[in-house]
This record gives sequence, C-alpha cells and structure tokens, in this order.
Amino acid sequence: MPDSPGRSDTPDAPAVPDATAATGSAAAPAASAAQAGGPLLSATGLRKSFRVAGGNGGKADLTALDGVDLHVGRGETLGLVGESGCGKSTLARVLLLLERPDAGTVRFEGTDPFALRGRDLLKWRRRVQMVFQDPFASLNARMSAADIIGEPWRTHRDAAPADRDQRVRELLDLVGLRPGDARRYPGEFSGGQRQRLGIARALALGPELIVCDEPVSALDLSVQAQVLNLLADLQQRLGVSYVFISHDLSVVRHVADRVSVMYLGKVVEHGPTESVFERPLHPYTAALMSAAPSLGAARSGRRILLSGEIPSPLDPPSGCRFRTRCRQATDLCAETPPAPAEVREHHETLCHFPLEGAPAGA
Ligand SMILES: Nc1ncnc2c1ncn2[C@@H]1O[C@H](COP(=O)(O)OP(=O)(O)OP(=O)(O)O)[C@@H](O)[C@H]1O
Ligand code: SF4
Ligand SMILES: [Mg+2]
Repeated sequence: MPDSPGRSDTPDAPAVPDATAATGSAAAPAASAAQAGGPLLSATGLRKSFRVAGGNGGKADLTALDGVDLHVGRGETLGLVGESGCGKSTLARVLLLLERPDAGTVRFEGTDPFALRGRDLLKWRRRVQMVFQDPFASLNARMSAADIIGEPWRTHRDAAPADRDQRVRELLDLVGLRPGDARRYPGEFSGGQRQRLGIARALALGPELIVCDEPVSALDLSVQAQVLNLLADLQQRLGVSYVFISHDLSVVRHVADRVSVMYLGKVVEHGPTESVFERPLHPYTAALMSAAPSLGAARSGRRILLSGEIPSPLDPPSGCRFRTRCRQATDLCAETPPAPAEVREHHETLCHFPLEGAPAGA
C-alpha cells in the first residue's frame, strides 16, 4: 500500500514472520523483505470460460477472463477495479487455485502452483490466503473467535503453534480485538469486528499474499476506513502483499501501489496508482473516474457519461470490447482488437487512441 515505510531491498530477510514475531521486534526485518527480487506472484495470458445455458436451450461459452496479465511484488498492493461481472472474482479464484484457467500461466516465486501436489501444495496454501467480502457469511456462526482463528491450524497441523491460546491472543491484538473476544461468537461482533476476525484467520498461517475480494464493501464508511488502515498497518509490519479487489475507486486509490482496470474479462489499463488516477489513458478508466463522486467529477467538474450496459460476455463486441460505449470509437476499433501498449513508464493501456496526457475527466 502507498506510504508504507520500512521497505528495503534486503534480499535475504525472512518473507513473513508469524504473528508472534510481528507483534515484537522481528516486525522490521520482515517488512524489509518488501520489494526484494522479482514478483512474488505473476500471471500471464490467463483465460477462463464457463459453459453456461445459451439461447434456444443450448449451451454457450461465457468468457470471464480473456488474456489477463498481472504481477504483484513483495509488500505491494495491486488494486483490481472494474464494473460488476468484468471478471475480478474469477481472476481471484484462479490466483487462489480455486479455478483452473483454460490457458495462461500463474507463477508464485517462479513456480507453477497448479503443478504442486500433496505436501508441496499444502505448503503453498499457507502462503496465499483470502479475505472475503461478507465476513458474516465466511465465518462459521457456531464457532468461537478462538476456534475460527485456529481453524487453519487443523488443516496445517505442522504449522500449528505450541501455544495456540497465546497465538490466538496475539492475532486478536494484531487486528485490534481484545483477548476476551476469543470466547465470543461471530453474531456477537459488529460488521467491522467480524472483518477483523476474518483478517486474523487469514494471518494465522503467516501468508505472504492475501487476496482481498471487496473486503470493505459490506461495511459502513467509517468502519471501512478502520479496516483499510488495519490492512495498511499489517502490510507495514508483516511485509504481506495484497491483491485488492474493489468496485470503489476511491478505496483502491487509497490502498493500491498499482492498479489494473478490467473490462469484460480484459485488463484495459494498468499502471502506478497515481499515474492511472491522475492521467488515465483508457477512455473506460476516464469514464469510470469521472462518474465517481469523490474523484474526477469533483475535481474537473465534468462527467463522462458511461452510457449503456456492459455487453454480454456471451457475445462480446468485435475489435475493442469497449467500443459500444466509447465516445471516440472508430471503424478501426470495430475491426481490430487493440494490443497492449506502454504509453508511459510502467503504464500500459489497451486502446488504439489512448488519452495520452489528458487529465481525468477531460
Ligand atoms: N461458475 C461460474 N459459472 C458461470 N459463469 C460464471 C461463473 N463464475 C463467474 N461467471 C461469470 O463470469 C463473469 C465474471 O464474473 P465475476 O464474478 O468474476 O465478476 P466480478 O468482476 O467479480 O463481478 P462483481 O463485481 O459483481 O463481483 C460474469 O459474467 C459471471 O456471470
Ligand atoms: S480502442 Fe477505440 S473503442 Fe476501444 S477504448 Fe480505444 S478509442 Fe475507444
Ligand atoms: Mg466479484
């Protein structure tokens, strides 16, 4: 996340400490692992289709991901934004090995996690965890907070600490809950506290990457800010990386180091957060931002209407997928899919006519 101090290029610092270390003096060396070496996670050319009911009682292929690339460094937050149905959660599920892509590769520290089996796969699963949108639905209402936090240790017995009660208390403390909360049940917590509990569970195995799918969308605004601050704080202390999915642009701007904007299964723009938000290159990104009350519209006083519905992923437009909603579409856009182009340093877009240098909403 931005403004996270404690990053350095120390290559051989421990990746992520356990929560015990994080609450003590070992936190600083752990954070210094951030940004070391190559990407922690990378994906190239990911494609994923689902066979769904089509017209006339037949079947059709719905393309949820269509050639997605991404990479996440240590201690870094990659934000994923886009309208509902653009493929964000499908991408998250592929990265978590919950869906197998039809094509493309995933690499975690250079290794293909889909090729792992048995003990190696179990070890990998410790390193990548998830935080869900709805903490109530994702927590077993009949389990105490202590049992919920300790649940991952039942699957990963060799990672279970000798003193589980002590570790549970430390994890509760780490996420801003009290030791006495260990005996409480999910129904006795507020929404924000439940999300803290979900985060504590995700931290129990000392992950290096947490995929957060709309982690604050179900929370009130003031509680959102607390949970976002907690995630930022944990990143500074533990050096953990996040893939942070949200449809809320202001939230993503707040938390992400880099942003990928998705439209109909494709990443249409990718770059450093400030560059993307201050000078979007893709007409879709500019329109999204100008429609967000706290971003472009407020700053520029101008709104770009994002007219029409997202086309069906069962029958996407030819050429550029955004062309049916793009004000500057030409015949070329209908005929030829644009190729990714790096218009500014580390800032790419998928558009024949990028808004080079144009301010958001212009
Ligand atoms: N298991 C599935 N079977 C069939 N279609 C699916 C399945 N999972 C996702 N899809 C479809 O894939 C597309 C992408 O869905 P996904 O859930 O990834 O979108 P999203 O960007 O996360 O949306 P939201 O913001 O609403 O959560 C959608 O059209 C969705 O209907
Ligand atoms: S390629 Fe054409 S239709 Fe697509 S976003 Fe760029 S200008 Fe618009
Ligand atoms: Mg989703």
